[in-house]
Amino acid sequence: MEDILFSRRSIREYINGDVSEKDLNYILHAAMAAPTAMNTRCYSFLVIKDKNMHKKIAMQHESAKMIISAPLAILVVGDSNIAFKGFLPQDCAAATQNILLAATARGYGTVWCGIYSNLNKEVSVAKLFNLPKNIKPFSLVVIGKTNVKPIKRNVWQPEKVKYETWNK
Ligand SMILES: Cc1cc2nc3c(=O)[nH]c(=O)nc-3n(C[C@H](O)[C@H](O)[C@H](O)COP(=O)(O)O)c2cc1C
Repeated sequence: MEDILFSRRSIREYINGDVSEKDLNYILHAAMAAPTAMNTRCYSFLVIKDKNMHKKIAMQHESAKMIISAPLAILVVGDSNIAFKGFLPQDCAAATQNILLAATARGYGTVWCGIYSNLNKEVSVAKLFNLPKNIKPFSLVVIGKTNVKPIKRNVWQPEKVKYETWNK
């Protein structure tokens, strides 16, 4: 687990090869193992394999254009009718991170493409996927096999950690 946490990076170049059904199943199970406020489990997951849909997404969203070379993406959405108070984004973020880690564990490259809280993106993605009003698009996770091996980096910044009070 430790290796997975520290080896996950955003990968935007993919090679040929599908995400196997077994791995997809594992990834989706991991997504639903994420915590949600008051255990509402307000998330749903749209698995998008259709290349025409990938093209449409890439045309509308410059920052998700890597989808063109990937076999699959998962659109993480939340149901605002079910979510507890304003916690829909946090619930969907936890599920998104679980998807990234599960896919990394199975050897895939992934990238989290943000949708929430960019109103233009939220509206255009909702339209593209015919989402009902209460189903809010949160993120698009692109997943694929990759040859990219990112250089190990050190993100540790001790000054980001404070103890007991801010000024102590
Ligand atoms: C909320 C959020 C939105 C993001 N949106 C995009 C995106 O639209 N396109 C993209 O290529 N990467 C996106 N990323 C990935 C970040 O650019 C990436 O996580 C960051 O540069 C750190 O790199 P790392 O993931 O390799 O650690 C997003 C990440 C987060 C958490």
